[in-house]
Amino acid sequence: MKKVKSIWASAVVLAGALGITAVSAEEFRNTITGEDLKVPETAAPEGRDTEAVKKFLESGINLYTEVKACLPKGEEIYLTSCSGCHGHVGEGKVGPGLNDAYWTYPKNTTDKGLFETIYGGAQGMMGPHNDLPLDEILKVIAWIRHLYTGDVAEAAWLTEEQKKTFAPYKAPEHTSEGGESTQTAAAPADAGECKVSAN
Ligand code: HEC
Repeated sequence: MKKVKSIWASAVVLAGALGITAVSAEEFRNTITGEDLKVPETAAPEGRDTEAVKKFLESGINLYTEVKACLPKGEEIYLTSCSGCHGHVGEGKVGPGLNDAYWTYPKNTTDKGLFETIYGGAQGMMGPHNDLPLDEILKVIAWIRHLYTGDVAEAAWLTEEQKKTFAPYKAPEHTSEGGESTQTAAAPADAGECKVSAN
């Protein structure tokens, strides 16, 4: 018993030394192949030890969902890494729409499933995005959920509590004259600091 304990203790020390303090209780699998994605070991070193990441690895729950102060960062990442293929507000382009209730991969109605699709990729042009820090993937997931325009009853990723206040997304009116609008989808910039607590 003593020996087992000390081996465990050295494992914890080693993990600490390697900077891996987040341990995943959930197993994350590639959406197409079902292969183990080995999260968090394969993740970018930064942003994998935040409160939100720890909670997500343990439970598959995304603490950033509908936390207004955390949405602007999610929008920024979305506009840099995703909107070119999925459209400005998730309406779809060469990639499918992400703002309605139809999903090619039904597991994307859970944040765990959506995470797996983003992290490990899907088919063709949908490559893996495991170069994005885990914390940023959670923020981009929250932004995609915020862009949802469908029926709230079908939004399986929202808690019953969140469903009561969630309003389907309405894109702001374009203000620029002609050409493509450069306006962002209006995440509130004045919502304060993005802070979440696992408790
Ligand atoms: C180079 C183009 C491209 C980029 C960039 C891209 N995607 Fe995709 N995405 C696609 C294509 C094409 C598909 C369809 C693949 C399939 O059906 O297997 C897809 C599929 C998806 C799906 C599955 C949708 C469903 O209906 O189940 C999700 C979720 C998704 N992408 C999210 C993202 C996110 C989030 C980003 C940014 C981090 C991103 N994608 C960046 C092209 C892209």
